[in-house]
Amino acid sequence: MLLLRSRSVHLFLVLDVVQSVSLARYKIIPFVTHANVTNNSAFINATVEIIATASENRINFDFTVAQPIYGPRLTVVLWLDLAAGALQAPFYNQTIDVCSLLKNPGAHRMVLLVYRELRRHGTLPTGCPIPVGLYKFRGISTNQMRLPPFFTQSDFMVDIIGLTSMTKAHTIDTRWYGVINYVKCIAADRC
Ligand SMILES: *[C@@H]1O[C@H](CO)[C@@H](O)[C@H](O)[C@H]1NC(C)=O
Ligand SMILES: *[C@@H]1O[C@H](CO)[C@@H](O)[C@H](O)[C@H]1NC(C)=O
Ligand SMILES: *[C@@H]1O[C@H](CO)[C@@H](O)[C@H](O)[C@H]1NC(C)=O
Ligand SMILES: *[C@@H]1O[C@H](CO)[C@@H](O)[C@H](O)[C@H]1NC(C)=O
Repeated sequence: MLLLRSRSVHLFLVLDVVQSVSLARYKIIPFVTHANVTNNSAFINATVEIIATASENRINFDFTVAQPIYGPRLTVVLWLDLAAGALQAPFYNQTIDVCSLLKNPGAHRMVLLVYRELRRHGTLPTGCPIPVGLYKFRGISTNQMRLPPFFTQSDFMVDIIGLTSMTKAHTIDTRWYGVINYVKCIAADRC
């Protein structure tokens, strides 16, 4: 376990070095333009607010868990470059066990980008089952979600779907639309 963990840390360091060498002056960040959220009120009541100005993209996200969620899972499906034509195969399509994610957030590099921002701006559940309660996130910044250099400038659509393991019921369905931008770094960005 310890060995695996130190290996993945090493891999991240290598990726970060590659990123800063090949793209010294740009950061690659998503910008969310709109979202469609539908919750299953037996489990979750969620509200999302997207604040987008020319230079900033902040998201407020609240959800109330109405009954303990056992075996929570998240399906994440990402499509890139929608303008290129009809819906192609997704670029990324994974179902993630939320209980393991909470224990070991570093296991999924892409998910870690979002997880870190959530943790910085609110309180995540700490274990399973997901306890009843209100979870509030204020001012989540997509500018902090730096993507690796294999992302090109394009539009995107990502589905993040909450499921329970036992009944496979959907707890929440969210679809986020936006663009991936290459943004020139300023001195304060450390890139
Ligand atoms: C939002 O999602 C729901 C269910 O996933 C769908 O029925 C509805 O048409 C969508 N609304 C928009 C504006 O896309
Ligand atoms: C979520 O569920 C609550 C409670 O039923 C409902 O009032 C609300 O409209 C739902 N919100 C969304 C975005 O589906
Ligand atoms: C859902 O959340 C909204 C906003 O936080 C709140 O106004 C509403 O009363 C909630 N609905 C239910 C059924 O909990
Ligand atoms: C994502 O992968 C699952 C499991 O392999 C598959 O059933 C599903 O159709 C895929 N979703 C899309 C949108 O391709």
